[in-house]
Amino acid sequence: MKKKHVVNVVGARPNFMKMAPLLREMSKDEVFQSSLVHTGQHYDEIMSKVFFRDLNMQAPDFSLDVGSGSHAVQTAEIMKAFEQVCHRAKPDLVIVAGDVNSTLACSLTAVKLQIPVVHLEAGLRSFDRTMPEEINRIVTDSISDVLFTTEESGNVNLRREGVAEEKIHFIGNTMIDSLVSCAGLLFQTRLEGALGGLDGAPYFLATVHRPSNVDEPVPLSQVLDILESASQYAPVLFVAHPRTRGRLGQIGRASALVEIDDKLRKIRRGSVYLLPPLPYIEFFKLMSKCTAVLTDSGGIQEETTFLGIPCLTMRENTERPSTVELGTNQLVRLDEPIVSSCLKTIMSGKWKDAAVPPLWDGHAAERAVRVLRKIFGRN
Ligand code: UD1
Repeated sequence: MKKKHVVNVVGARPNFMKMAPLLREMSKDEVFQSSLVHTGQHYDEIMSKVFFRDLNMQAPDFSLDVGSGSHAVQTAEIMKAFEQVCHRAKPDLVIVAGDVNSTLACSLTAVKLQIPVVHLEAGLRSFDRTMPEEINRIVTDSISDVLFTTEESGNVNLRREGVAEEKIHFIGNTMIDSLVSCAGLLFQTRLEGALGGLDGAPYFLATVHRPSNVDEPVPLSQVLDILESASQYAPVLFVAHPRTRGRLGQIGRASALVEIDDKLRKIRRGSVYLLPPLPYIEFFKLMSKCTAVLTDSGGIQEETTFLGIPCLTMRENTERPSTVELGTNQLVRLDEPIVSSCLKTIMSGKWKDAAVPPLWDGHAAERAVRVLRKIFGRN
């Protein structure tokens, strides 16, 4: 039987950990042969290349190198380049992941060439159309043929939007597959320099990059006020995305932050430490040992729930409600008194009892490939 040619698309950092387990599973399968396309939406060594190493991912067969740009420019450039790949590679199906511009651009290109589209992490909704990711999710889901969901809310949202039941497949969370498969590497990872002394001491881990939190001076200053106030309880390690770092310089608050460098000897309460983006395993290690996470990331809400680490999400809403209803996550907006009261509870060891959502068990990619084999496995 001729193998089915699957083109898997990645483009930005959060795609890598979702796609790696699926690629690995497909490479063992006798029905499918996969190629990997990297759109180049993220292109820096630290935003992209290190993840291929840490996640043991095959090198891309096609690199589109589109880089940064406005939403329209980035999406259009990816569509133009991906159309050429589809003409050359003639895929039997295209798999996209998550909610970034690459997801939207490649699903739209494929569906117009009448190539079936599979969406990994379908159905999530924040119900906030000011988020670029929400538009990407709605459009991608509406044109995909197979919708792989990670949590019950995804199934409910898709049904409400009129998606046919046979398109929806609840397979669990492939990002958790990546955490499970990398867990064994944690003890081999040494935290370098000043971070080496952290083991055992309480600290908070912070990340922010959502346009609504960082693009304007007022919300970004509120974020910094929150982190400074949190540091009264324990030192804060602020891992800054390139988008955030750029804005910090512009609002003139970067000097209040302590850059982590080799000369730093000790991490102290009362300070917010600024770190560059980190490789997957190093970030995983910092996250698994911290007292709590302050974030606006989508993926980190899920990873902390799986790890049982308290998570305070500095947003008005979440497209991942199971992390709040079942897991360790709580929405705190940019409200410093709420954050402070949550941190007091966390420091006294009384955070809510939490459970891991169904099918976040390290086997989601296996379930996905079984479904794909049933649908596309016949010639
Ligand atoms: C994108 C995703 C977001 C995801 C985030 C994770 C969209 C609409 N947004 O946001 O959902 O949570 O990735 O990181 O797709 N830059 C670099 N190096 C890089 C890539 C970007 O310095 O390798 C800088 C550029 O200045 C760029 C800015 O970061 O303009 C923003 O990058 P972009 O891809 O537009 O969106 P993100 O904010 O990363």
